[in-house]
Amino acid sequence: MTEIEAAAWRRLINERLGLRIGKKEDTTLRRTIHERVSVTGLVEAANYLDFLSKETPASELEWETLAGRLTINETYFFRDARQFDVFRTILVPQRIRERQREKTLRIWSAGCSTGEELYSIAILLDLHIPELADWNVTLLGTDVNPENVRRARDGRYREWSFRGVDARVREQYFQGDGKEWRVIDRIRKRVRFEVSNLVADAIPDPLNEIHSMDVILCRNVFIYFDSATVRTVAERMIRTLMPGGYLVTGHAELYAQLLDGIDTIHHPGSLVYQREMPLLAGSTRVAKPVERRSEEPKPSRDVVVRPQPKSNAKPRVVAEPTLTEAQGLAARGSYRAAVELVEPLLKNPTPPFEAHYLLAECYAHLGRREDAAAQCKRALERDPLSAKTYFLLAKIAEDADDQGNARTYLEKVLYLDAAFTGAYIDLGSALKRSGETTRALRLWETATGLLSSPLRDGKVPGYPDASPAEALSHVQRLIQQTTGSGESRRST
Ligand SMILES: C[S@@+](CC[C@H](N)C(=O)[O-])C[C@H]1O[C@@H](n2cnc3c(N)ncnc32)[C@H](O)[C@@H]1O
Repeated sequence: MTEIEAAAWRRLINERLGLRIGKKEDTTLRRTIHERVSVTGLVEAANYLDFLSKETPASELEWETLAGRLTINETYFFRDARQFDVFRTILVPQRIRERQREKTLRIWSAGCSTGEELYSIAILLDLHIPELADWNVTLLGTDVNPENVRRARDGRYREWSFRGVDARVREQYFQGDGKEWRVIDRIRKRVRFEVSNLVADAIPDPLNEIHSMDVILCRNVFIYFDSATVRTVAERMIRTLMPGGYLVTGHAELYAQLLDGIDTIHHPGSLVYQREMPLLAGSTRVAKPVERRSEEPKPSRDVVVRPQPKSNAKPRVVAEPTLTEAQGLAARGSYRAAVELVEPLLKNPTPPFEAHYLLAECYAHLGRREDAAAQCKRALERDPLSAKTYFLLAKIAEDADDQGNARTYLEKVLYLDAAFTGAYIDLGSALKRSGETTRALRLWETATGLLSSPLRDGKVPGYPDASPAEALSHVQRLIQQTTGSGESRRST
């Protein structure tokens, strides 16, 4: 396959599945296409491309297979225990309060892989929330890969899916024969699994029960999508939630998306998104303005080995291509791979500023807050005037719900760089949360002014994935909602 053909494949797959297939996945792409050409008997990749380009039932099926080959199914029961704690102790009780009248609860595991996530939910509800016994509870799992859905319905799992599962829970909810464990019938009857493509299929989809959800878990799925697709899918999910319903993603998966209509809510070890409540007639309670914040940073796209203020030693020539490569990996969401490339650079007696900074960003994306903060400090030793590093520290502090430090860092950013628009937006939100509405409005007005003029390199500082127009309309909404409400409400 020539490079031009490979590029055509990448484009088509991106259009149809929203998947970003970078150069790193090139071998997988070529191998998969080769295999599928031979399995389908289409003889040549060009015929296969032609077949997939037409919208027929057969090509639909083939797309599902292809999606399964190009994504990773990694999952296990109660993966990320802290998110399940938040789900059980906060999200479900809150939704139960909201839904007392209808006694209906709807939960969707989107990108459910082989089903462990949805079964974990079914087990949690059964174990801890007995009052749901007389409720109408929908537990839906969907995945683009039909083989995953088949296995999820079957509900048989091997040892590896149980890492971290309490032995008593396994005894209670699974029947084993020593090799495999099957979810007991009582729980299997409560869940439903369907094939659905988050990118190509209609969502919400009332005909297929995909609507009015109380909680959507879409974890470790957005990582496969490019930024535009993340936004489209996230927006559809917001529309699929009930007002007040929750969206739970993997860590930092919605970073750099300016999403309307949701609040970001911090819980220890987990950040969740809540669809705004409508304004209640006759009530003093108001819908909270969108306080969009990106929970973790995204790698910068302008990796340059800069002169190091604290050393006369020249950065090693080898650092530049490695850093650029690592930056490319990080930009595609391959943070672990990027870390592997950058960490050896720290053996250099004078690692460049960008090595520390990129590492800090990757660690933050991977949820390693302390390591991320440590790398920021080291980056600041190399360049004490780096506004973007303070901005990153502010994000890390916000993620740890350390609002005091977040605010201090944001102030520092503006002290160092008076044109750092993202800091005006975020500091405004922080001030609004603490009731300082007038100051918040002043900062957002400044952000409006900056966004209305040409930006340095056309990017919004702090929000590299948002266009200036998107950022501007976001800030205007913040202003409008604040002046409209006259008071602030803080999500907890
Ligand atoms: C890593 S698994 C995540 C499983 C589970 N949510 C978890 O976090 O443990 C990612 C899943 O997303 C699915 N997926 C990828 N692209 C998808 C799409 N466009 N629509 C629906 N599912 C998709 C894959 O088939 C895979 O099963």
